This record gives sequence, C-alpha cells and structure tokens, in this order.
Amino acid sequence: MPAALKFGFTPFARPRGVLVVFCEDNLKLGPATQRALSPIGDILRRAAAADRFTGKPGSSLDIVAPSGLNLPRLVVIGIGKESDLKPRDIVKLGGTAMGKVPTAAATATIFAEFASGALKATQIADLALGARLRCYTFDLYKTKRKDDEERPSRAEVSFACSNPAAAEKAWARTAAIADGVVLARDLVNEPANILYPGEFARRASGLTRLGIGVEVLDVAAMKKLGMGALLGVGQGSAHESKLVVMRWNGGKRGADPIAFIGKGVCFDTGGISIKPAQGMEDMKGDMAGAACVVGLMRALAARKARVNVIGAIGLVENMPDGKAQRPGDIVKTMSGQTIEIINTDAEGRLVLADVLHYVNKRFKPKFMINLATLTGSIVVALGHEYAGMFSNDDKLAERVAKAGEATGERVWRMPLGSEYDKLIDSKFADMKNTGGRWAGSITAAQLLQRFVNKTPWVHLDVAGTAIGSPQTDINKSWSSGWGVRLLERLIEDYYER
Ligand code: BES
Ligand code: MN
Ligand code: ZN
Repeated sequence: MPAALKFGFTPFARPRGVLVVFCEDNLKLGPATQRALSPIGDILRRAAAADRFTGKPGSSLDIVAPSGLNLPRLVVIGIGKESDLKPRDIVKLGGTAMGKVPTAAATATIFAEFASGALKATQIADLALGARLRCYTFDLYKTKRKDDEERPSRAEVSFACSNPAAAEKAWARTAAIADGVVLARDLVNEPANILYPGEFARRASGLTRLGIGVEVLDVAAMKKLGMGALLGVGQGSAHESKLVVMRWNGGKRGADPIAFIGKGVCFDTGGISIKPAQGMEDMKGDMAGAACVVGLMRALAARKARVNVIGAIGLVENMPDGKAQRPGDIVKTMSGQTIEIINTDAEGRLVLADVLHYVNKRFKPKFMINLATLTGSIVVALGHEYAGMFSNDDKLAERVAKAGEATGERVWRMPLGSEYDKLIDSKFADMKNTGGRWAGSITAAQLLQRFVNKTPWVHLDVAGTAIGSPQTDINKSWSSGWGVRLLERLIEDYYER
C-alpha cells in the first residue's frame, strides 16, 4: 500500500476491499468474524484443511475472490492463543496484517477481533501503529517505478471494531508516536549531502509548530562555551557544526526536566583515521541517536505529554581535511577536562562529552539518557536485537529495560567499572578517546561517564539497532527509528504527572 494512507475506524458490518481477520488455534474465530464469513463457512474449512491451516502463530491463509463474499480477497492470520500475546505482539500483528494486503490494493478492512471478541481501543491503536510502521518507505529520491511497484496513489485501511469513536481517540494519541518514528526514520535515511548539520538544525526547528522551543547554537556560541571536543570533530568539515536544544514544557511549571541527548554525526568518514570504503555509505546514519531524540520530542509534543523534557543534539560532520584534527591532538572540553585524540574515528564520544556536560550544567535534569551509534563493538556483542545499555543508576536502568520489554525495543545492560575506566587514562591529557582493542563499547561508555557527574544517566549504544537491522513485521526500511517507542513508553509509564 502507498504512503498516502488513510486509516479509518468502522463498525464490523459491510467490510470493503481486502478483508483481514485473525484466527486462534483450531480455527477459532471471533463472533463478528464468524458472522461476516458465514456465507463461505464451507470454503473456509476446505481451504484451511487443504493448506493445513489451523491458526498457529506466524501462519496465514489467503483466499482470492471467495465466491459468496463479494470481496477481492480474504486473509486469515493465525495468532495461536490470545493469552500468549504480549502487548508488543499486537503492534507486530498490525504489521503482519498490513503486510498481507497486496501493494496494488486501494482498500482494506482489518477486523480488530480475536476469538474472545472485539479488541480494546488501545489495542486497536497498537494494531494501527504496527500497520503504519509496516507501510513506511523512503522513496524521496526514486523518480522511476518498476511495473511491479505500481501502487494506487491513495489507499484506505479501515479497522472494524465495536466502538469506532473510542478507537479513533486512542489512535489520535498513538499516531503521535507513529509520526515520531517516521520522522526519525526519514532523518536517518536522508543522505549526508542533503542532511548536513545546518539542514538538520532547520528540520528540528520545524518542531516549533508543535509548541516546542528550539534553540540553535552555532560555532561561535559553542566556542564561547568552550566546547573544544565537539568543535574538534567538526573542524575538518565544510559544514558548520550546530548544537540544537529543544524544550517541551508539558509538566509542572518549574519542575526539573528529564533530558535526552543524541549523537548527530551527519557523516562519519572516520576523519584522518579514515574508515575503509566498504560500507562507508552507512555512516550517513551516524546521526540516528539525534534523529531519535527529534522523533521523540515530536511524539511528546503532538500528544501533549505532561512532562518537562529537554532534547539536545550535537550535529557535526567528521571529515578528513587540511583543517581536520589529528591523532595526538589534545582538546579541552567544556567541563575543563582534556582529551587526547588517539583515533579521530572515535568521534561520537567527543561530541557527547560536551553536550552531556552542557545539558547537565544548564538544566540540572532529573536524569539524562543519551542515544548514539557509538561503537562497532556493540554490534559484535549484541547483534541487531538489543541495544547496549550502560548506566550509573540501577532504578533508571531497570525502568528502561522494562519499557524495552513492553515495546520490543529491547536493551541489554553492560558493565561499567574502574578497571575499564583505567584503560582510557592518557600519558598527556586527562584521558584519551580510545581504550585499545578490547571492550570497545565499554571504554567508550566510560568516557561518557566522566561527563555526567552524579546525575542518573543511561547511555544507549544503538549502532546495531538503529541502522541496518534485519527487516521485521513493522519495519522494512534500512533505518528503524529505534528508541522513539522505547523512550515514549518510559515517560508514559514513569514520568508523567
Ligand atoms: N559511528 C561509528 C560506530 C558505528 C559502526 C556505528 C558501525 C554504526 C555501525 C563510530 O564513530 C566509530 O567509528 N567507532 C569506532 C571506534 C574505534 C575507532 C575506537 C569503532 O567502533 O570501530
Ligand atoms: Mn567514527
Ligand atoms: Zn561515528
């Protein structure tokens, strides 16, 4: 189905277009589904037997132009037992259902019902969220279509349910989250010749429309603040570095905010310690942490979250150049601590060192969570399934882990400790920016920790989850928008007044 997609919520009567229904083990259908399919009961039983379809999770049955139904297609999706489904499975199911609708179809109806009866409004919204994310494509730069990619210019998907008005209302809230994820994916998919720091800052500034306060600090302002680490990374680029600070004040007036900080390396060549050519194009996505923060702010503002939030993103481009920083250079951070550059490709931690300190000092947040495509080592350790989590606060870490289980954007906690911290001590400065071959994602986290003082803090290394992760039921794109749903859930469950 196309991107110009309209969702509607309707009663169960008179489905239109492709009909998608859910089915539990032993071909158990809900009452409204049974009623709608009663004219073809016999065909359904025979087709199921022929295909050995019984309603197991992950299976489905596809019947084209079933005679007696006057619909182009019926899709029956197996879900096993409803009691085995976690809330995050409902989102996935929405993606699965959407995936069964042929791209050429212009209308579809999804019956929001399990064997026990109609879904609740919030469950229907989760179904729609999965469907929306499944449909995401990034086609901005495709000027031609192959024949098999022809799609209707508009399409409409209706979710049939018992209380359409309630579902519509739940969706208005959940749609804000979907829009946040889509924005994050779009930013990450944009190439670096289009989305350099200045352009990224302009796009973030677009959030003022939703009532978010946006400040953009340029190089002169950052020089004044003494952000030598962030500025050192960007000094080899033709594009000026930027620091964007976003503020959403939906909470009690004057209450301390919570803060989210993103690594926004719009392109990471490695700098003078240049990366190999193979796969370097993926480094246009080295701003996925920053994209997540922008997507999150959008989601929170659109659903008018009752909380005070700061979003801060350090935007730079890491390029080799006559003006670029060298291995051996020593930079002074805003905190006053100095860093010896061993490898110019370990640049994300340099950017975050200054942004973490700045946010901590200026806003005194209740906690800080940063997201960064920080290390290749975290992908070696955890692959694409879990993001690496590092924290100085067990309670905050526990809450993030719970939000991860609830949304399916899961995190795995990694250790911090003085033995690792020692590895980044330097002969010439307070610290060096790499810690050698072993435990690369941990030594990177140790450097960040030196800039957060006692403030509760979580660092999420999203190098494996934000870009290049395998396709799922709710994402077919190279970029996943990972973290928006996770952090939105964290806030909703623990931090709204
Ligand atoms: N942006 C990279 C990390 C990365 C790798 C993100 C693959 C996504 C996919 C980061 O800036 C980097 O280059 N890290 C180096 C650090 C090393 C030089 C100490 C790494 O992990 O190899
Ligand atoms: Mn790098
Ligand atoms: Zn990087």
